[in-house]
Amino acid sequence: MQENIFPIKHTLLQQLDKEKLNGHKGIVLWMFGLSGSGKTTIARALENELYSKGIHTKLLDGDNLRAGITNNLTFSIEDRVENIRRASEVSKLFMENGNVVICSLVSPTKDIRKQAQEIIGKGFREVFVNAPFEVCAERDVKGLYKKALAGEIKNFTGLDSPFEGSENPFIELRTHEKDLETCKNELLEIVLKEIQL
Ligand code: ADX
Repeated sequence: MQENIFPIKHTLLQQLDKEKLNGHKGIVLWMFGLSGSGKTTIARALENELYSKGIHTKLLDGDNLRAGITNNLTFSIEDRVENIRRASEVSKLFMENGNVVICSLVSPTKDIRKQAQEIIGKGFREVFVNAPFEVCAERDVKGLYKKALAGEIKNFTGLDSPFEGSENPFIELRTHEKDLETCKNELLEIVLKEIQL
């Protein structure tokens, strides 16, 4: 906490008031996994589906955030920690506004995700988008694995920068075993139950 700063409690309108207005709870789906694991594709499809059901959503994607609010950060571990801290704080704001926040960030370590959980609190739901490095490298949608394997990108997740999975996520989507549509539907079903008032 910084000195001489006095955050006020919003005593009039709380998260519950926003949730009542929206007709559903606010939560944060923290989708994490290797680059190319399918996070963004599932997140976008999920958001479309929720929108069509009248649910208030906000999609926060690592690549997009890095074009703005986190555009001064690198891929060092320290900067990834700061990246996730900022994304968590923004997520929390949207959640408190009664939104279903869909975050899609690599968030490579357990500590980093613990930090997100601590900031966001009880609305945090960890979603492990799980595909092995080799599968993501084979897909290589953005051409980054080719560059990283050629030594043109430093600190690449899963190569020369750590990636730790999760043993007990809220949900795990194994995108090398099931297609993305199936994964999205599994997630959707659970989310719809979770956000019931
Ligand atoms: S995180 O580790 O800090 O959570 P974030 O989700 O914001 O990462 O950004 C990951 C995206 O940045 C990847 O999807 C990829 O497109 C791009 N990227 C560029 N360089 C790297 C790198 N060294 N490691 C991982 N992703 C990278």
